[in-house]
Amino acid sequence: MKIILCSIAILLASILNCNSQTSLVAKKGTDKKWWKEAVVYQIYPRSFKDSDGDGIGDLRGIISKLDYIKSLGVNTIWLNPIYSSPNDDNGYDVSDYRNIMKDFGTMADFDLLLKGLHERGIKLVMDFVLNHSSDEHEWFKQSKSSRTSPYRNYYHWWDAERVKPNYRYSLFDVNHDAWKYDSVTNAYYLHYFSKKQPDLNWENPKVRKEIYDIMKFWADKGIDGYRLDAFQFASKDTSFPAFPTGFENNFVPYYAMGPHLHDYLKEMNQEVFSKYDVMTVAEGAGNNYQDAHDLVDADRNELNMAYAFDAIDLAKMEGYDFIKFKETFSKWDSVFANKGWLSIFLASHDQARIVNRFGNASPEFRELSSKMLSTFLLTMRGTPFIYNGDELGMTNAGFEKITDYRDMSTLNEYQYQLNHGGDINQFMKRIQFECRDNGRTPFQWDDSKNAGFSTGTPWIQVNTNFKYINRAEQEMNQQSVLNYFRKATDLRQKNPALIYGKYTLLDKSNHDVYAYLREFEGKKFLVLLNFSSHQAKPNLKMNFARSKVVLANYPNPSSNGVLAPYESIVYQLN
Ligand code: NOJ
Repeated sequence: MKIILCSIAILLASILNCNSQTSLVAKKGTDKKWWKEAVVYQIYPRSFKDSDGDGIGDLRGIISKLDYIKSLGVNTIWLNPIYSSPNDDNGYDVSDYRNIMKDFGTMADFDLLLKGLHERGIKLVMDFVLNHSSDEHEWFKQSKSSRTSPYRNYYHWWDAERVKPNYRYSLFDVNHDAWKYDSVTNAYYLHYFSKKQPDLNWENPKVRKEIYDIMKFWADKGIDGYRLDAFQFASKDTSFPAFPTGFENNFVPYYAMGPHLHDYLKEMNQEVFSKYDVMTVAEGAGNNYQDAHDLVDADRNELNMAYAFDAIDLAKMEGYDFIKFKETFSKWDSVFANKGWLSIFLASHDQARIVNRFGNASPEFRELSSKMLSTFLLTMRGTPFIYNGDELGMTNAGFEKITDYRDMSTLNEYQYQLNHGGDINQFMKRIQFECRDNGRTPFQWDDSKNAGFSTGTPWIQVNTNFKYINRAEQEMNQQSVLNYFRKATDLRQKNPALIYGKYTLLDKSNHDVYAYLREFEGKKFLVLLNFSSHQAKPNLKMNFARSKVVLANYPNPSSNGVLAPYESIVYQLN
């Protein structure tokens, strides 16, 4: 009897304990935070608005458009790097982290921009390039000057009289080789990106301290967040062991999440993030779901969120596996359902335009599919990141001549293909669709010269369709992609269920329709998205026909259960 009572007591205790853990976990998943409620608008400063006629967008240009940004219903912006830079990789090669790039303006302009944003209730996330600096940064100049320089260990050097270091793949190098020989000290230095972007040595505590000081410098100015560029590559096995043949075809598992990455993030959190109310997001989410979860688990005190590439990488070339796309987003959602948080995005300055990749850029479907994609981004769980221009449905420029391209990584790869007998026609076809310059053409403000972007010659050509795809035209049209986008941000901001609500994928084997529920505190939304150019029927075992339509991209949304091409409808179910 005693034994039975005792077991019941143990059982009860474990149930209670388990319940209290569940409720704690559930609470964590819906813990309210401003950065979970953010709709982030990414601005590529070089292409947004030029204020002084030099053909390059700048900070004063952005300042002149603050009311437009506010009107979008976004509440946070992420700026690509604006620090001093020789611009080998458009600012991702920083030569002075405490100064503003000359092309973009001055620190006084920056202060004005930040003030203007804050006056409008908009937060600012800055891009921090911490895996590498420019080779023109003072640290690197000192580092390469002599083997005994106090800055030598700020970077990864390999003395040439030793055996040659094991091969490391470089993403942007013209020979794909990440070791560059430097004759001044007869040694190689490491650069995962271009030869003008040497990797910083994060094992050196002095480097880490310098970086944290820089991060604090900007936080003290009042910025609201950090986007950590390529940070998963910062920690490396510095014995540089050999990797198996062909590793470069899928190099990330060998390069990402090195042995000390979590230690660095914890230290960064303690030294910087914990001292301010800032949002933190890393580019890349590691090699697997566990990595991603560990990076953003609030109890581990590292980051708030990371963005993963699996889903958007599916559409590198035309045509992609839609079922996989839905599965991938659903899997990512489930990983963070109770703890941690994710970011939702389909495009950035590193990808071609969203409508070409996931929608349909033909005149017939461009507007409809752009609206459908905005609906997707703004009704998923996770913080949405919207890339500038996508709110207008801007499209790929698809340049035909290599001389029209500006992206250093594309130009270097072109050279590589030439040097190694690659198929140049095939290469040109590929970049026409996927080159990141497609997403970097000037913002299309109106139908005047250079789309109202600049009075000078733009650093990269304006997309020729600016005459009919531009902001001014869309302001006048209530049914425009732009005005639809505003409705979608408004719906999200007014409905916590669309931010915090549980996500449930429905009809998962449907090859055309993405259907899901979002539920929170008694409110329930059903989202139906036809990702195809034909009619499609979702197979749902629920009666929603009489439910209230709260957002739709057709003036008369379908009511017979069959969705028109690229149709999107959001129903409120109760
Ligand atoms: C990722 C950035 O998004 C990309 O634009 C840049 O070229 C690389 N990191 C290197 O910094």
